[in-house]
Amino acid sequence: MSRNAVSLEAKNLTKTYHRGSEEIAAVRDVSLSINKGDFVSFIGPSGSGKTTLVHLLGCLDNPTSGELVLGGRQIFSGNGKQLSERTLTGIRRDVFGYIFQNFYLIPTLTVIENVMLPFTFYRKPGAGKDVMGLLKLLGIDHRRDHLPGRISGGEMQRVAIARSLVNSPEILFADEPTGNLDTKRSAEIVQILKDLSKDSGLTVIMVSHNLELASQADRQFEMRDGGISERL
Ligand SMILES: Nc1ncnc2c1ncn2[C@@H]1O[C@H](COP(=O)(O)OP(=O)(O)O)[C@@H](O)[C@H]1O
Ligand SMILES: [Mg+2]
Repeated sequence: MSRNAVSLEAKNLTKTYHRGSEEIAAVRDVSLSINKGDFVSFIGPSGSGKTTLVHLLGCLDNPTSGELVLGGRQIFSGNGKQLSERTLTGIRRDVFGYIFQNFYLIPTLTVIENVMLPFTFYRKPGAGKDVMGLLKLLGIDHRRDHLPGRISGGEMQRVAIARSLVNSPEILFADEPTGNLDTKRSAEIVQILKDLSKDSGLTVIMVSHNLELASQADRQFEMRDGGISERL
């Protein structure tokens, strides 16, 4: 796939929730194309639909309507059809990586055990050959045998990033990855994501409510009431 090939495309993506008699359009009519290697950020007020949209793009949730196309392959088509759950699981595992605000490390496992944890369930052919190299790249190799409780928040997020990368994903989703970090550590994490997209061609899709951090991305989208506009 060439660097400019569209890797993820949403067409009129909509997600509506029902709460009692109330209808909430968490994501409304969102269309966008994200290219391989792009570093994209979503910014917007709380409740504007950022998490819902990222979950739809990352196939963690199904749209109410609209299409999602990954590398030319139709994942959700407008008529409510979607790939089988088995195929979706394969895509989440082989193509996508995820990191979150709350790191979700296992407290009783060491840094390297946490990073290698995905292999307990599945190891993508050829992946994970150089886990120590990955720890070095993220600046946590000297922490390999520490428990998460003994390292800093910034280091915990680096561990979570390493874990999300062991199966060599093509697209990394990061929902408020710096939400629990101070300014300096936040900037470091965003710089890591930026370098990963620039140096390894990883597509990074990041949510942040911090304008300064979001503006580090190559492309910035603003969300408001479920709708989206690209900041140009
Ligand atoms: N599972 C759900 N059920 C009902 N409403 C939801 C659910 N998830 C999110 N929402 C609503 O959808 C809107 C968007 O939420 P969310 O995507 O979490 O926004 P953000 O990440 O920008 O804060 C909010 O009004 C929220 O209350
Ligand atoms: Mg959110």
